[in-house]
Amino acid sequence: MKAVGVFALIISFSVAAESKIYTRCKLAKIFAKAGLDNYGGFNLGNWLCMAYYESRYNTTAETILKDGSIDYGIFQINSFTWCRNAKKRQKNHCHVACSALITDDLTDAILCAKKIVKETQGMNYWQGWKKNCENKDMSEWKRGCEVS
Ligand SMILES: *[C@@H]1O[C@H](CO)[C@@H](O)[C@H](O)[C@H]1NC(C)=O
Repeated sequence: MKAVGVFALIISFSVAAESKIYTRCKLAKIFAKAGLDNYGGFNLGNWLCMAYYESRYNTTAETILKDGSIDYGIFQINSFTWCRNAKKRQKNHCHVACSALITDDLTDAILCAKKIVKETQGMNYWQGWKKNCENKDMSEWKRGCEVS
């Protein structure tokens, strides 16, 4: 029994180390620093709202879709068009490995999200944003965070 308990503990530690849930304000700071506020005409609130409804701020979120492609990371970026995973020949518009989109370092995910906003003309790519954020007051999302 004891060995099982220790084993479970090790597992839970390794999971905790791999999966990171950012807090809203920590993300607000990272997003602001990366120049996302008003990028493509979308203020910080839109970015925070979008990431929340796409991934619940889980950097390792992965969703397998019906067509076999996978949505990766905090912005749920899809492997069919935007990143490269080992399985199929894909478009890889962001010139990035999909695995780089599920790390705690959000640099690659943010670069790719910027590219999506530019190339698809806005945030319509993200269903979570369309359903929950579009045309709504986004000022609450950065409330209480130390960003301007
Ligand atoms: C984050 O996403 C990963 C991959 O989908 C999942 O295994 C993990 O449980 C999630 N973490 C939380 C706290 O929801």
